[in-house]
Amino acid sequence: MRRTLIAGNWKMNGSLASINELMNGIKSGLSDVTNADMAVCPPAVYIPAVRELIGDAHIGLGSQNVCDQASGAFTGELAASMLKEFDCQYAIIGHSERRSLYGESDELVARRFAMAVESGLIPLFCIGETLEERESGVTEDVVSRQIDAVINTQGVEAIAKCVIAYEPVWAIGTGKTASPEQAQAVHAYIRGKLAALNAEVAEKVQILYGGSMNAGNAAELLSQPDIDGGLIGGASLKPEDFLAIGKSA
Ligand code: PGA
Repeated sequence: MRRTLIAGNWKMNGSLASINELMNGIKSGLSDVTNADMAVCPPAVYIPAVRELIGDAHIGLGSQNVCDQASGAFTGELAASMLKEFDCQYAIIGHSERRSLYGESDELVARRFAMAVESGLIPLFCIGETLEERESGVTEDVVSRQIDAVINTQGVEAIAKCVIAYEPVWAIGTGKTASPEQAQAVHAYIRGKLAALNAEVAEKVQILYGGSMNAGNAAELLSQPDIDGGLIGGASLKPEDFLAIGKSA
């Protein structure tokens, strides 16, 4: 049985004051979240502070990216070993904002994925199509290509070491959520594609949905058989909304 994971992607939001408030808010309501694991991915500079704020609360910690190299002359990048020193368990990899705004290719994303796994981080591996791609009927081809970049370099077994986040680009930050049926169809496609290669990997891997998931639509999305949680942007910045999503699992 796959456990539900609700992970917050704070993106480039917050301040020392606001993260204090946010973490204290999340911690104060955490005991009501019984059917999901919760995790937060703060901006990297706040990871040490958030780690302290988590204390011994059952909240996972993740970064929003990780370098594909171990160390050295890679200005602006973060090594997996550094993230591990601050108890990060997860690293978001291949978020659509990284792909579209900063030009990260499938190949680079796959290399980042490999470094995360090698270092013991769990990639929150983001895939998803743009509106144009959906409208031209190539959604399955796009997510397939994005997953193949990892499978072709690291084998299908590597997928068992990550959490997939299906995030249709047109639903991210737009308030336009995929319907439960639309999301489930792509999740089922992804699981089916994996099952054709390795049934055990397909059964085990958690596939999260991301894209305007909120307190109002989470229950229906999370009740779909192949939706195993959510990667939450905007709604993860409000403790009551983030907790409500966790409680609806
Ligand atoms: P959103 O972001 O919930 O604000 O749409 C999701 C994400 O980008 O991970």
